[in-house]
Amino acid sequence: MNNTVLVTGGAGYIGSHACKALAANGYNPVSYDNLCSGNKDHVRWGPLEIGDIRNQTRLTQVIKLYRPEAIMHFASLIRVGESVIKPSEYYDNNVFGTFCLLNVARKNDIRKMVFSSSAAVYGTPEADIIAEDHPLRPVNPYGHTKLAMENMIRDYAAAYNLDYAILRYFNAAGADMSGEIGTAYKVDTHIIPLLMRVASGDMKEIGIFGTDYPSPDGTAIRDYIHVQDLAEAHILALRHIGKRNARLTLNIGTSSGHSVQDVVDMARRITKRPIPTRSGPRRSGDPHRLVADAAQARKLLDWKPLYSDLQTIVSSAWQWQKKKTGLDATSEAIRYARAI
Ligand code: UFG
Repeated sequence: MNNTVLVTGGAGYIGSHACKALAANGYNPVSYDNLCSGNKDHVRWGPLEIGDIRNQTRLTQVIKLYRPEAIMHFASLIRVGESVIKPSEYYDNNVFGTFCLLNVARKNDIRKMVFSSSAAVYGTPEADIIAEDHPLRPVNPYGHTKLAMENMIRDYAAAYNLDYAILRYFNAAGADMSGEIGTAYKVDTHIIPLLMRVASGDMKEIGIFGTDYPSPDGTAIRDYIHVQDLAEAHILALRHIGKRNARLTLNIGTSSGHSVQDVVDMARRITKRPIPTRSGPRRSGDPHRLVADAAQARKLLDWKPLYSDLQTIVSSAWQWQKKKTGLDATSEAIRYARAI
């Protein structure tokens, strides 16, 4: 074993945090990324090989060069709204891409995979807390592609001897606690990065998508998981499947829910900025509540989230936003002086 792990999407938000965690745990992460949404500056803990997962020739070349023992598969298009408008891109990149990756892995005898799935596979929740055996009825093309990718991995595992951990993330958020990396998206659509942009003066206000949900303050509830805790879950999953030849499908979340309004209030408290909001209609396809039952991950992997309280999540996102925008103490002082 050479401890090398091929990380597809290693230049992306979660992939780059996973590379840092892999290196800290004695692995050699090799990022394979087409840079369609990732950022090459976030690849710091191992080499970057630029390539597309649909390009089997290039993938084979990289695999023959590094001989990875396992794959962490993050490369994926992830925007729900976009998937409704451009389903063909989602099926091509996500489903066909995973098909190519599995075939190259199989031909090159790579028998371990950790896969980045999503709570989107559950669709509209039928329970307050969602366990892994909740019905799988995705409600948008993004969710359909994630479920198809999961099923493909399970079918290949059964027929071709592959050990896997499918991790269904709830709402990944926050940034590296030492401030080295953070969100890498070229276009932000997620609530916390958008709130940080408003706080830093990059946007005027944020729309609240729905204030008539059946929750105490009328806004939708999500289970926010710190990206560093999420990365750690990948390391534990990789070790687990290596030791036990296991095949796992696990939720990764905290089991506590926060409303959109809770997140806005926390962002105001941490950033000490007013953060104007505008109430708007519900966003199509948004469930009112998505909270994980993550007991299995805690039990099987001995996984314990350390940074996933809302205050730490938002503080780390704010630290990253300030670094990204050069909004350090001096420029903040200047900005305030100008505002007065
Ligand atoms: N929201 C707003 N305003 C915004 C952005 C988001 O009010 O400008 C709200 C959303 O409506 C939602 C909550 O904030 O209620 C969180 O939204 P995000 O866009 O941050 O995240 P999602 O819950 O939509 O997305 C997550 C994962 C996806 C997954 C999806 C399943 O990031 O990968 O859950 O529903 F597909």
